[in-house]
Amino acid sequence: MPNTAFINSKFLNFKNAKVHVEDRGLQFADSVYEVIAVVNKNLIDLNFHFQRLKYSLGELSIKYKVNEVKLTKIFNKLLKDNSIIEGIIYLQITRGIQAREHVYKKNLKPTVIIYSRNKKFNLPSKKFKGVKAITYKDLRWNRRDIKTVNLLPNVLAANVANKKKAYEAILIKNNKITEGTSSNIWIIKKNHLITHPTNTDILRGVTRTRLKILIRENNLKLSEKSFTKRQLYNADEVFLTSSGSFVTPITKIDSMLINKGKIGNITLKLANLYSKLFINE
Ligand code: PDD
Repeated sequence: MPNTAFINSKFLNFKNAKVHVEDRGLQFADSVYEVIAVVNKNLIDLNFHFQRLKYSLGELSIKYKVNEVKLTKIFNKLLKDNSIIEGIIYLQITRGIQAREHVYKKNLKPTVIIYSRNKKFNLPSKKFKGVKAITYKDLRWNRRDIKTVNLLPNVLAANVANKKKAYEAILIKNNKITEGTSSNIWIIKKNHLITHPTNTDILRGVTRTRLKILIRENNLKLSEKSFTKRQLYNADEVFLTSSGSFVTPITKIDSMLINKGKIGNITLKLANLYSKLFINE
């Protein structure tokens, strides 16, 4: 368990880090969040997380002014106080506290929740492994571009995957792959990368944004376009990206082996390029 957390304006003992019963984040998922990866005490792609946080807050008209300098100081203090070298920072901003009513009052004071946890990442320099995924129906709302804690459909799908000993559930809407429950999904066919277009049907992953830059710099071919379950099964390589999993190869989907169950060359190359950004070995 972490030692400390930051709630609103104070560092507290983790056991005493609590929110009000009428916090709108608790009652309506009226709340946005970010999960920021930490490797060697470095906050990975923090600027992209701040950009997306501001976007999510803006789309929901949550009146919280993001002070990047102040927040960075808080993140680093939490990492220090909790002795985190490799792990995550969790940040959640709720609209605030109000007597329960669907219509929110303007100018509520947002609740700020920040803490850190240890986590070991699946990196190519260590025992890099491919994972199994399942496909599942996408039951979420239509604004998946906003990173809200409205995650129940994701949670249910992830638990179906877990029951089947799979790492992730790949979600399908109208016969098209959208993304994973907590990741973006990529396929490779004939050396050509394909991932879902950047629109309101998926979350604009920070890892995805970073990978797009690496793909461009390395002259690989990428199309942002929809693809079907059939294309997923028939892909030469499949992988997922997220701040919790970085670039993780998917070598089995439902009962289908991908690339005969082996990690593909382009996936490995991208995983290496990605991890080299923050690991100097
Ligand atoms: N999830 N899509 C969804 C639905 C996600 O929840 C996430 C991240 C991603 C990948 O985004 P990023 O690369 O910025 O982490 C895509 C976080 C890790 C979580 O909920 O734990």
